[in-house]
Amino acid sequence: MTRHFLADDDLSPAEQAEVLALAAAVKESPFDHRPLAGPRTVAMIFDKPTLRTQSSFAAGIAELGGYPMLVDGTLAGIGVRESVADVARVLGRQASAVVWRTFGQDRIEQMADHAGVPVVNALTDDFHPCQLLADLLTVQEHRGSLAGQQVAFVGDGACNMGNSWLLAGATAGMHVTVAGPEGYVPDPAMVERAAAIAATTGGSVAVGHDPVAAVEGADVVVTDTWISMGKEEEAARRLEAFAPWSVTTELFGRAADDAILLHCLPAYRGKEVDAEVIDGPRSVVWDEAENRRHVQKAVLAWLLGGATP
Ligand code: NVA
Repeated sequence: MTRHFLADDDLSPAEQAEVLALAAAVKESPFDHRPLAGPRTVAMIFDKPTLRTQSSFAAGIAELGGYPMLVDGTLAGIGVRESVADVARVLGRQASAVVWRTFGQDRIEQMADHAGVPVVNALTDDFHPCQLLADLLTVQEHRGSLAGQQVAFVGDGACNMGNSWLLAGATAGMHVTVAGPEGYVPDPAMVERAAAIAATTGGSVAVGHDPVAAVEGADVVVTDTWISMGKEEEAARRLEAFAPWSVTTELFGRAADDAILLHCLPAYRGKEVDAEVIDGPRSVVWDEAENRRHVQKAVLAWLLGGATP
C-alpha cells in the first residue's frame, strides 16, 4: 500500500519516532542515504509562496541522489485546466513522489488518491506536517527529549501550525496548549482528534485564550505569523485581534528559564514576536529552518523504501 504524509497523524507514534531517528542519522551523515540515486525524480508544486520549503526539498532530494522537478502549478492549472485526479495520474507516471503546497486539504487528498506514488504535504490550509517534524527534531536537539515537554503555541491557533502542533505534539507525548483570541483556536474536532492520540502517548492537549497562562512555565514557546498565506484580505482585523498576543520579552520571560523559541518563519518582528526574542539567545529558529531539509529527506526515504536509521 502506498503511504502518504498528508497530516501529522498519518504517522503513528512509533513511526514518527522512527522518522525522527532517521532524520538525525541523515543530518549526521548526509550522503549515506541515497534511495533516489538513479536519479529518480520527485515532483514539487507550490500553489503558495515558499522559500524554506522549496529550497530544503530541492537540496534534500538532490542529497538523496534524486532530481527535484519543479512543476509550475499556475501553468498546470491544477483543478482548473485539468482535474486534480488527472494531474495526479500524470505526475505519478513521471515521478517517484509528489510534494505539494496548496490550499484545501481535499486537493492533496485527491492527489494522494490518484497518484499511485507517495504524496507529501508541503503545507495546506489545514496542516504543515513537514514543519512539525523539523520543530520536533529541533526540540529534541535543544531539550534532549520530546515526551513530557510543555509547549505553548500562541497567536493564530486556528491556522495550519496550530492544528499540526496539536496532532504532532500529541503523537510525541508532549503537553501542548494552543492559545489565541476567541475565534482563533483550533476546531473542537481537531482538539478531540489530538486528545485521542494524547491518551495513548501520555501527552495532553488544550486550547486557551490567555497568553500569560499558556506561556507560564513552558519549555517551548511557538508562534507564527498572524496573517497566513491566503488571509491577506483579513490583515486589518487580524492585526487588531492579535495585538495582545505578541511574544514580547515580557511574555517570553514567563516561560521556563531555559525555554526555547520556535517560529516556522517568515517572521514579522514587532508583530507576533519581538526582535529581542527571535534574535535572542533562546531562539532556535535557524536550526529549525535547517532541520526542514533533514526531516524531509527522512520522510521521503521512509515513504519510498522503508529506510531505517
Ligand atoms: N501559517 C503560515 C505558515 C507559513 C510557513 C501560513 O500558512 O502562511
